[in-house]
Amino acid sequence: MTGIDVRPVSPVFGAEVHGVDLAAGIDDATFAAVHAAWLDHGVLAFKGQSPMPADVQIDFARRLGPLHEHPAAPAEHENAAVFVIRTHRDSPISNGNGWHSDVSCDVEPPSATMLQVRLLPDCGGGDTLFADMEAAYATLDPADRARLRDLEAVHASEHVYPGRYADRGADDAAIDTPWAIHPVVRTHPETGRRSLFVNPSFTVSIEGMDEAEGTALLDRLHEHCTRPEFQIRHRWDPYDVLLWDNRRVQHFAIWDYWPHERSGHRVTVQGTPPSFDPDGPEPDGSPIRVSPGRLA
Ligand code: SIN
Repeated sequence: MTGIDVRPVSPVFGAEVHGVDLAAGIDDATFAAVHAAWLDHGVLAFKGQSPMPADVQIDFARRLGPLHEHPAAPAEHENAAVFVIRTHRDSPISNGNGWHSDVSCDVEPPSATMLQVRLLPDCGGGDTLFADMEAAYATLDPADRARLRDLEAVHASEHVYPGRYADRGADDAAIDTPWAIHPVVRTHPETGRRSLFVNPSFTVSIEGMDEAEGTALLDRLHEHCTRPEFQIRHRWDPYDVLLWDNRRVQHFAIWDYWPHERSGHRVTVQGTPPSFDPDGPEPDGSPIRVSPGRLA
């Protein structure tokens, strides 16, 4: 095994990984160590990297599962599995510039996303925020958790994708606008841990709940989920690679660098339909305390 060195970046989640050269490809023992660290920490930031060839990035992602096909993004890379993240002076929007779990509107939303930012804005900025939905769940009052465990939410994309990538040549007539109903509390299929699975970009309503009541509950949940106690902030160095677990975290790509440019290559792994295991364990205490910790 190579000398993988995992350094947590907060008491709650997220870690930097040193001593792994992703561009060179990694052996099975190193992959196993990376996979275990990823499940433990939710977000890994691989430091000291060089440009990763597309086939190497894709090979890594495939070891985590089948690749996810984005329903609306244009194919701008010669390898269709690579989603080019690019924001510049004339961009009408910036990808990921709002809290979300990637493509949560899919019936089988992504499990992992691997992003290498290759061009950073000259002016600095362009950081990515993450929020830990296991901590968000664990810090809620037990009565709120019990209520949420019975609920499902609608995740949609009709308000997100049409027109979104038109400036990049995407043909709206050809794109898909998936939607799905997912449990509000999901059980992680690999770790068995519970987390909140709603986000302000895709989650539009609570199934079977009056619209006003559902919107009010979602607003309170979104406010709770994005508390600073549950967040980490990644300040990119060139060629850093981030690997995040969409089943556990939300993220927000900050667009504070206009008119400068930022770009990178993203490869995404398809997950399984989110589900809730009623027989699974509740969190064994909370990693942190928040006040008041009640939704009401
Ligand atoms: C994304 O949401 O995939 C973009 C993240 C980033 O650009 O930092």
